[in-house]
Amino acid sequence: MISDDLIMEIKSKINIEDMISKYTILKRDGKNNKCICLFHSEKTPSMVIYSDTQSFYCFGCAVGGDVFSFIMKVENLGYIESIKYLCEIGGISFDISDKDNQEIETKNIIRKINIDTAKFFYQNLKSEYGKKARNYLFNRGFSINIIKKYGIGYALDSWSSLLDYLKLKKYKIFDMYQAGVVSKSQKGSYYDQFRDRIIFPIIDIRGNIIAFGGRVLDDTKPKYLNSSDTIIFKKSKNLFSMNFAKKHIDKTVVLVEGYVDAISLYQHGFKNVVATLGTSLTSEQSRLISRYSKKVIIGYDSDKAGQIAGIKASNLLSEVGLDVNMINLKDCKDPDEYIKKYGPDRFSVIINDSQNITDFEISKLKKSIDMDTNQGVSNYIKQVIVLLSKIKNEIERDVYVLRISRDTNISKDIITSQVNKVIKSNIFKKKKHQYRKLTNLSRFNTDNFIRGNEHFLREIKAEQGIIAFILKNSNNLNDVLSNITIDDFILAIDKKIFSSICDLSAKGGNMDFSLLSKNFSEKEKEYFSSILVKFDIISNKKEEIYDYIDILVRYKQRMTKEDIINMDPDKLRDFYINLKEKSI
Ligand code: CTP
Ligand code: MN
Repeated sequence: MISDDLIMEIKSKINIEDMISKYTILKRDGKNNKCICLFHSEKTPSMVIYSDTQSFYCFGCAVGGDVFSFIMKVENLGYIESIKYLCEIGGISFDISDKDNQEIETKNIIRKINIDTAKFFYQNLKSEYGKKARNYLFNRGFSINIIKKYGIGYALDSWSSLLDYLKLKKYKIFDMYQAGVVSKSQKGSYYDQFRDRIIFPIIDIRGNIIAFGGRVLDDTKPKYLNSSDTIIFKKSKNLFSMNFAKKHIDKTVVLVEGYVDAISLYQHGFKNVVATLGTSLTSEQSRLISRYSKKVIIGYDSDKAGQIAGIKASNLLSEVGLDVNMINLKDCKDPDEYIKKYGPDRFSVIINDSQNITDFEISKLKKSIDMDTNQGVSNYIKQVIVLLSKIKNEIERDVYVLRISRDTNISKDIITSQVNKVIKSNIFKKKKHQYRKLTNLSRFNTDNFIRGNEHFLREIKAEQGIIAFILKNSNNLNDVLSNITIDDFILAIDKKIFSSICDLSAKGGNMDFSLLSKNFSEKEKEYFSSILVKFDIISNKKEEIYDYIDILVRYKQRMTKEDIINMDPDKLRDFYINLKEKSI
């Protein structure tokens, strides 16, 4: 088990502000700091970092907790792993062996299985059975060096070659299954997941092999088969080739759709390239890119599906503040085809010619509309107005308005006023949407814990206030504790927190958020941090705390209707007199 001392040692060496500032820029906000939330897309900061309680909370998405929760979420780690991770950063010895921790141990085994699997596939490619696959790769222009660099391999045309190989290496079948390299039939037997396919290992930014993508050598369907999500692999959070690209990103990164596009561009010297993993770009992937780069050049396939996906990706990327350009692949279907047909120099040219999303969409629009008819022009202008309304910068917008006005002979004022109309209505829609999302999200946590007790909001506020007060004024603790007991609390979660407070106080420990919530689930920690946030602004005067205690105690003593009905007449009489005296 993790000792309280270890937790306190970590916290004394590492403060949450320093940790979070490794991922984003903090801005001072009174005695606290705030930043753009790392867990949802936004442009104005709604994540607040509280210095005194060493906790954080996002008002936009209700994610919160302490430095451990932060690391778990941002680095995708378990609780013990987050402790181990912070120990390494703080130079603190961590003497719990991985074997003693199931979670870390399972992840370690899966990583080892993936390494051995990748080696096995690579050996297959070199073996006599890999001739067909080797020829396929050479025909597609892959060099030996690039095959090595990406660790490309071949899965044999067999149902159990990998399974047998891993068995020899003493791995358990269930672990192979958890790693996703072996599948389970309905009857319960296990078999190789990848068969007769070219294999592309997927590697995370720390260099771990986390998954595989497999391509057929002919036209069989499905063309690609990818690992499903596992405990070490989340498709939506990783990008293919990011492990290489991050060393070569110089302000820009090229984003493509396919593994082959990425490898092909890398081979031709465009090393700052990444690809999605068989799904459309996610907001997590956009944020990952924004950690390394300022600008993204999208080189998606030129077919309709690719173009639509490109525009969607562009919206997500600009939402996290990245500049976005779109490449025009001319007559080629994808970057791989382009670079093979025209070579790297001309690829550089189309990168330089890549247009921002507005230019890109305007050119596309022009091509699809007949500008010689009045109907055409009016159609064009309607759609252009929508495009221009998306430009954030006013000057940039004005430049476009002028250009369009010249192009169409429609007055600048009319275009501007139409654009402004759309902007206004968009802002309104966006605000409404954000408000809904915000209230839904931030109430989600507390609502779940409050459900069934909606009649006691006053009492709940009181008990939350007491908890927040205790955390911030631990020197007055005994005073408070002598006046209330756990039975005075209403919500189960507040009882849990209070019981934690009592235990820790009996041990003589500090009223520290991380110690108190050591055995809480992440959702419980989020609730706990939301309380601290709620009461951050409220003063912590002693009188106020007694008001809160009073509310709780009075609630306990309150008679219900049933109590009164069942009271014997004498008692009822006393009760009545008592009440009357009090009210005089
Ligand atoms: N993809 C997938 N499953 C499929 C088809 C595609 O997961 N059945 C994903 C793969 O990650 C693939 C990407 O979508 O790399 C792009 O698909 P596509 O353009 O069809 O493949 P290419 O990368 O062009 O592959 P190739 O050149 O080998 O045909
Ligand atoms: Mn393609």
